Amino acid sequence: MIKKSNSKSIKLIEYYKLINHNLIYNNKAINRYKKDSFEISADKADNLERLKKSINGIKNCILKKNATNMVFSDGNPKSKIMFIGEAPGANEDEEGLPFVGRAGALLDKMLAAIDLNRKKVYISNIINYRPPDNRRPTDEEIKRYLPFITKHIEIINPKILVLLGSTAMNALIGNEVVISKMRGKWIEKKFGNCKTSVIITFHPAFLMRQPAQKKVAWIDLKMIRDKKI
Ligand code: URA
Repeated sequence: MIKKSNSKSIKLIEYYKLINHNLIYNNKAINRYKKDSFEISADKADNLERLKKSINGIKNCILKKNATNMVFSDGNPKSKIMFIGEAPGANEDEEGLPFVGRAGALLDKMLAAIDLNRKKVYISNIINYRPPDNRRPTDEEIKRYLPFITKHIEIINPKILVLLGSTAMNALIGNEVVISKMRGKWIEKKFGNCKTSVIITFHPAFLMRQPAQKKVAWIDLKMIRDKKI
């Protein structure tokens, strides 16, 4: 028979396990998202690994110098739907995964609203390292990272490409356009050998600042949900 004091400690250990003991024993950020692993073709895995290496090999980049981790992607590399944001923030830099902070929580809700989740989509950013103080990446930085995200799209080869916010839109569609005019339309585009249907919608961080625009974003989300692929 287990003594009373002993059973009390067992219960305490169970409880610690349940609430994540990291919280109690150290003050490091809790890794809330374990990246799922998906079986992909050797070719795709190889191409993604090569791309990661070339991003890691970037020289004289102030973003890389200041960052803790490279933020490459999250989600399912086999997915037919790819989402692209702007650049990692503090939480993303800490965990090495895109959209794990407050904007990420809203993105998860947006996905859930159209029956999607991180196992069903693939997510990346225009820039792979956190800009200091969460500033917007400069035009020069975007230009430097553009070949990487273009290659990334080509490797994933999505049927639908969702650009979140104006940085992603301007980088991949052009600087002369404004998001209020461009969102909610299908645009056929080629990235290398990848032919894809692009849709632009508001960035979740913008929607947190302008919640009235969520009803507009909902129109875009429904277009994604209803698109035949
Ligand atoms: N905002 C982005 O654009 N990307 C992230 O990964 C997080 C916040």
